[in-house]
Amino acid sequence: MATFTLPKNSTISKGKHFPAPAGAKKVRPFKIYRWDPDSGENPRTDTYDIDLEACGPMVLDALIKIKNEVDSTLTFRRSCREGICGSCSMNIDGLNTLACLKPIEDVKGEVRIHPLPHMPVVKDLVPDLSQIYAQLRSVEPWLKADTPPPPDGERLQSKEERAKLDGLWECILCFCCSTACPSYWWNGDRYLGPAVLLQAYRWIADSRDEHTGERLDALEDPFKLYRCHTIMNCTRTCPKGLNPAQAIGDIKKMLAERVV
Ligand code: SF4
Ligand code: SF4
Ligand code: FES
Repeated sequence: MATFTLPKNSTISKGKHFPAPAGAKKVRPFKIYRWDPDSGENPRTDTYDIDLEACGPMVLDALIKIKNEVDSTLTFRRSCREGICGSCSMNIDGLNTLACLKPIEDVKGEVRIHPLPHMPVVKDLVPDLSQIYAQLRSVEPWLKADTPPPPDGERLQSKEERAKLDGLWECILCFCCSTACPSYWWNGDRYLGPAVLLQAYRWIADSRDEHTGERLDALEDPFKLYRCHTIMNCTRTCPKGLNPAQAIGDIKKMLAERVV
């Protein structure tokens, strides 16, 4: 399982307690990591007692309720509320997942919420994704073809060619997988990690791309690719049910089988 590890700036102090309103019948404590770099204080864990009878069913509903009704200083990312944008990824009850897809009822007892593990924190539940986005840019995640497209239409694929992209195109770049990967925790400055490698493979596997050889050359590196030790945390934690470990294995297989 993708167990929780503290974010990089972590000596956690006892935090504030926000009790539920009088008369609340179905109260659940939410223990949430808080850190404001402008305060000069250590991180802390605040406790918000939420009446689940006055709250939507998902963890993101509770976070929005807290921000709107209890404590407007709580900071987190979200956009679509339906598992499409990848913004609300965080560590809930010890697992990296999407807050908008995580039912509160799936968590027993207090709901512990932290930012994605082993990432620098911008504020509260917002990780700094600058490095991982730079790594994503480095694999050039777009179609590269020198042949011009047909003048009267699109670049076509057979059904079989298109099917090779299934399990890859659905990735929403939430980075739950990379931040659950021990190899990425320890070598994240040089190892590309499962999310970026799955994206790299998405273009390697695309029949319309004409730069497959260069893409493979760029990944043939002891750190960028071969720090994956098949621990499988990435695949277990992916909230979209994808298999980045398989994509990494497929890249390694292509490298092993290609004629030098
Ligand atoms: S399979 Fe590879 S990428 Fe996935 S968690 Fe393990 S080491 Fe990381
Ligand atoms: S593979 Fe899954 S966990 Fe990883 S970034 Fe894509 S959607 Fe998120
Ligand atoms: S808010 Fe978009 S994936 Fe959760």
